[in-house]
Amino acid sequence: MMANSSAEELLSSLPREEGITSAYSYQYQGFWYAPRSLPGLIDCQNQFQARENDIFLVTAPKSGTTWLKAVLYALMNREACHPQDPAHPLLKQNPHQLVPFLEILKPTEYDSVSNSSDKSSSRIFGSHIPTASLPKSIIKESKIVYLCRDIKDTFVSLFHFTSHRSSPISLENAFNLFCRGVSISGPIWDHILGYWKESVERPDKVLFMRYEEMTDEPHAQLRRLAHFIGKPFSQEEENSGLLDQIIKLCSFDGLSKLEVNKTGNWISNVRNDSFFRSGVVGDWKNYLTAEMASKLDQITEEKFHGSGLYM
Ligand code: A3P
Repeated sequence: MMANSSAEELLSSLPREEGITSAYSYQYQGFWYAPRSLPGLIDCQNQFQARENDIFLVTAPKSGTTWLKAVLYALMNREACHPQDPAHPLLKQNPHQLVPFLEILKPTEYDSVSNSSDKSSSRIFGSHIPTASLPKSIIKESKIVYLCRDIKDTFVSLFHFTSHRSSPISLENAFNLFCRGVSISGPIWDHILGYWKESVERPDKVLFMRYEEMTDEPHAQLRRLAHFIGKPFSQEEENSGLLDQIIKLCSFDGLSKLEVNKTGNWISNVRNDSFFRSGVVGDWKNYLTAEMASKLDQITEEKFHGSGLYM
């Protein structure tokens, strides 16, 4: 594990800016991070060894990570634990406890992750790490599910995630930092593009998903995901209503009303309930001016131009 003195030395050598969710952000390998996540990122770059059956859910923060962690967990464990089981782990634990972020784990914890009842002993991890910094063995060995979300909604969700910051930040200030790429794992456009390109080049290894499609057509997206992870739904499962049951278990209403998600903290000053705000597509209209929205759209158009990716 990275020693505190080496972490401090590293931070002092990196470009620094005001952060949106923390007092400062540091730029490492072209992307911005809160200081507390950098040592874990460097540890996993040096020490994590992916296995062929591992599954990684990668997102830019506030793209729906919590939701898809729950869905992946329910899908992978559906044989051992039926979504209607009153003792289902998702009813008692926050999705981030069941599916940990790789970069938050200590190296001694990597091998103890055991969150899938699958015979192949797959492990499921979450991560916000961009392609360029992801441990090489993950790219080589594992399957990656990437989830993105309308960038305006992602920004608004991120802005609301700053309540654990010691001093508040204004919407305008956060917006300017975000547009300049200074957000956790940002620039968000480069984060999305990195995985988009991987998904085009290696569709068997990288699945590109969208929050809005999960909302609009949950059954089709669930089938797509189940097929990608090598566990397609059988006709019997389809007929038994299993898809509806997984969708209900992992729905915003289903998860946000649970005691475990209404109370307590996930880590230090981050409350479990801060992962469940409104879960509404297009909520940006309630916060951004027309100028702000068009500025974000314009950056998105310029950045994605020629990539085949539209948002
Ligand atoms: P809003 O702030 O727009 O409500 P992440 O999990 O990546 O941190 O993203 C959090 C966003 O996903 C929040 O968006 C949150 O409300 C939403 N979310 C959490 N659980 C969800 C669910 N089960 N279904 C849909 N959206 C969900």
